[in-house]
Formats: sequence, C-alpha cells, structure tokens
Amino acid sequence: MFRQGPCEKRDELFDREEELRGTIEALRNNVWVAILGMRMSGKTSLAKVAANILSKEGFSYIYVDLRGISNVSGMSRRIINSISEGFFSRMRDYLEKIRVWEVEMSLRKTSKTRTMEEILTELSKRRRLIVILDEVQEIKGGINHFLSMLARLRNSTRNLSFLFTGSSIGLMDTLLHPSRGSPMYGRSPLEIELGPWSGRVAFQFIREGLEKCSIEYNDNEIEDALRVLGTLPGWLSFYGIRRCLGKDHENALRDSESEAIDVALGELRNAIRERGEWARRALRMIAAYGARWSDLDVGVSDSTLSDFLKRLKKLYIISEESGTYIVPDPIYRKAAMRL
Ligand SMILES: Nc1ncnc2c1ncn2[C@@H]1O[C@H](COP(=O)(O)OP(=O)(O)OP(=O)(O)O)[C@@H](O)[C@H]1O
Ligand SMILES: [Mg+2]
Repeated sequence: MFRQGPCEKRDELFDREEELRGTIEALRNNVWVAILGMRMSGKTSLAKVAANILSKEGFSYIYVDLRGISNVSGMSRRIINSISEGFFSRMRDYLEKIRVWEVEMSLRKTSKTRTMEEILTELSKRRRLIVILDEVQEIKGGINHFLSMLARLRNSTRNLSFLFTGSSIGLMDTLLHPSRGSPMYGRSPLEIELGPWSGRVAFQFIREGLEKCSIEYNDNEIEDALRVLGTLPGWLSFYGIRRCLGKDHENALRDSESEAIDVALGELRNAIRERGEWARRALRMIAAYGARWSDLDVGVSDSTLSDFLKRLKKLYIISEESGTYIVPDPIYRKAAMRL
C-alpha cells in the first residue's frame, strides 16, 4: 500500500477510480490524455497503472521520464533510449532501426523529431502503442518541431496515443492552450487533474495501509499525521512507509515531515529562481497569513507580480479564495517559511 516509488498495478493505487476510469476510457478510444497535478499527487502512478491495465488488452507502452530535460532534442533522445531499453529490445529489427537513427542523428542534427516520428509510426503499425511522457512541463526549447510532429501523428495513425503528465506550464501549457496558429490547435489532450485527497479519503488511506502491514495505531495518530502532512498521497506515503517499517508515530511523523519539506523547498526554490528577493518575500507573505493583491506591495510592476502569481497557480503551489491567495498544502506552507 505505501510505496517509495510510483504505483504500477491496479491494487497498489488507492482511490482515484474516476480519474483512472477516465484515463483508460480515453486511451482506449485513442483520445490523448494530460494528467495534471502538483508534486506527490500521484501523476506517475495514475499513468503507469492505466498503461498496465491497458497492456492486458493488447496495448504496448513506452514510459519516458523527462525530469531534467529542457528541450525537444533531449526529449527525443530520451524517448529513443526508453524504446531501446524497454520491451522492444527483444525485437532485433527495431533495435537495428534505432541504431540507424542514432547514426543519422549524429550526422544530421535537424532530423531528430522526424526520425523519432518514423520509429513511432513503425512501432504503432504492429500494436496499439501508448507513449507516456512524464513531466513535460520543463520542456521549452524546440517545441514547434515537436508540436508539428504530434499533429502529424495525431492525423496519421489511430494506433498511437500520448499520455502527458506535469503541471500546466511549459510544453504542457502549449498543449493545453494552443494558439490559433499552433499545429495542435483543436487537438488538445483530455485534462485529468489530480488534487489532494479529501480528509476522509486520506484518513482511510493511512488506516488501510497501517492495517495491511499489521501496525497498531490509534485514530488520533492519523488525525495528527493529516494535520501536519496534509492530504497529498506522496507525503502520506512518506509517513506510512516509516510506520510500516516499525517507527513509532512521533518519529515517523517528524522524519516524514522533514523529508517532505525538503522536497517542497526544492520546488519553491525552482519557482522563485531568477526572480529575486521580491518573489521570496511575496511567497512568504502568502504562506504566512494569506495575502490579497493589495497586500503584496513588493516593489515590482503589476504585470511582473501577476505573471509570478499565475505561475504559482499553474504549479498548484498557491490558490485563490475570494480574492485571497493562500498556500493550501501545509508542507508547502512550512517550506515557504524556510525560504
Ligand atoms: N492513489 C495512490 N495510492 C497509493 N499511493 C499513491 C497514490 N498516488 C500516489 N501514491 C504514492 O505517492 C508517491 C508519489 O506518487 P507519484 O510518484 O505517482 O506522484 P507524482 O505526482 O508523479 O509525483 P512527482 O511530482 O514527484 O513526480 C509514491 O510513493 C506513490 O506510491
Ligand atoms: Mg511523477
């Protein structure tokens, strides 16, 4: 139940029935999907479980982790590596094609997306294929070639579906909100959004998980964990794993809180990077008390501040409730106070 990595199989995924059903139904019907959500909401888990269920219906899938990749040429390379490392390594003719691709790539720098397109088209002639592009949001460079490729693939084959995950910035934003001139205009993927759980579902998640590994607990401990960690599946798993390994409540909670804050702090530093001291101050003000627009007098123009707040919203770090910006997740709130 509590896992360090993403869930892979149906029985590992708690709740999320509706989102899973929506994802599977879309992919079965060759509708492309975008799974959106903040860190630790379970995007990779949902994508992998859906693909695994469909693999029992004759679909193949390629999983591509795009973390740390910022341009399309890096992405193309990752996709090809994922194909060759995956189950296609058993098929010699495809491996041969990939080698040719690699040589071609080193000779002619411009042909990366075109050759990747050929390989994907070729592969999808044999079986229905799902390509999971996990964490597409950081990709910025060279997007136009990639969008044209996607649009051609969208039109030319019904055997190939893409499943994108990430928050709604960068390439993801372009896919979801294409301009009129974009090759993907009118072809946006179906959005499936993963939020934090409700308190009730989060409570059940911990209770069932602790029961499965036969750990003694009381309800107050679970309430306590939810108060400190909030209701994101990932933070709760940090706690659950430690309890199942035998740590007592106090220690498990302290350690998981500190690990979660480290992860969140990394995200927040990314979000304010290249913006300066004012961004740190604004975020801390929002995290501490909640802030209205008029409170955020941080010495930058309205449009600069507004862009920053929009980005924080797209990263699901802040939300707006009746004109007040807040950081809803308690872990992110504490991380912001340490910025
Ligand atoms: N529905 C779920 N049921 C059980 N565990 C879950 C569920 N969703 C997520 N988890 C657990 O939470 C953690 C984070 O999940 P996952 O990696 O899928 O999230 P993510 O949104 O892809 O996170 P990241 O932003 O770090 O990539 C993992 O340990 C995973 O096992
Ligand atoms: Mg993930």
